[in-house]
Amino acid sequence: MEGIDQTNLPRHVAIIMDGNGRWASKNALRRVVGHKRGAQAVRSAVRTCRELGIQYLTLFAFSVENWNRPADEVEALMALLEDYLSAEVEDLKEKGIRLATIGDIDALSCGVRHRLAETMRETEQGRSMVLTLALSYGSRDEIVETVRSIIDAVTAGTLCSEDITKETFSNHLYTKNMPDPDLLIRTSGEYRLSNFLLWQSAYAELYFTPVLWPDFTRENLLDAIRDYQCRERRFGLTSDQLTEK
Ligand code: IPE
Ligand code: IPE
Ligand code: MG
Repeated sequence: MEGIDQTNLPRHVAIIMDGNGRWASKNALRRVVGHKRGAQAVRSAVRTCRELGIQYLTLFAFSVENWNRPADEVEALMALLEDYLSAEVEDLKEKGIRLATIGDIDALSCGVRHRLAETMRETEQGRSMVLTLALSYGSRDEIVETVRSIIDAVTAGTLCSEDITKETFSNHLYTKNMPDPDLLIRTSGEYRLSNFLLWQSAYAELYFTPVLWPDFTRENLLDAIRDYQCRERRFGLTSDQLTEK
């Protein structure tokens, strides 16, 4: 596919989908229309990643901080999420995409939780890609939650504090069943992580683009992957050490 090296694909791509509101104001539309258009960009990103053979795609859809937005915007976002899931479930199934979530799912409304559970159940046989939606997600909350569950295990006597390693920690995060992101994309020209996958992104390649999320096309995604493929991931080693291997 269009200049993509199939042997050097990121295994896990994570995206901070930002800029729906600014896209709406730029087009003299209401913010909610921006979110609607954002949902269409989600469809295209999911399709492209699946086509490329990306194994894990994680989308930041709603942060724990986003609860503080005006109530009508939060409501509209939740309604859009339900619509998205209902409209896409058949396609996800057909394409072998398994839906997963990370975040404080209990904070979501009963209706949304039900729709999520249903979609996860219906897609659980999917083996080609895992699509994870980060919902009511905050990385610091996740880390605090992780510390709590490790302390519980130590208190229960199932874990010794001397045996706690980086791997133990990773295995208690919401993301315990997935590899760390290799490529982390943020749209809309903001250069920050906004409390997304802080632990997991320790060695992610970061890619920032000014494109607003509703305008983010398949070609933009391919650009990000091509850029990733030009990077040398050294993990602290020297360039010579990498070529010696
Ligand atoms: C991203 O777009 C969607 C969510 C955060 C839910 P924004 O709504 O943050 O758009 P801007 O940043 O205001 O343009
Ligand atoms: C991050 O975007 C959260 C999502 C994309 C869901 P925000 O728009 O909420 O982030 P800030 O407030 O600009 O950092
Ligand atoms: Mg934003």
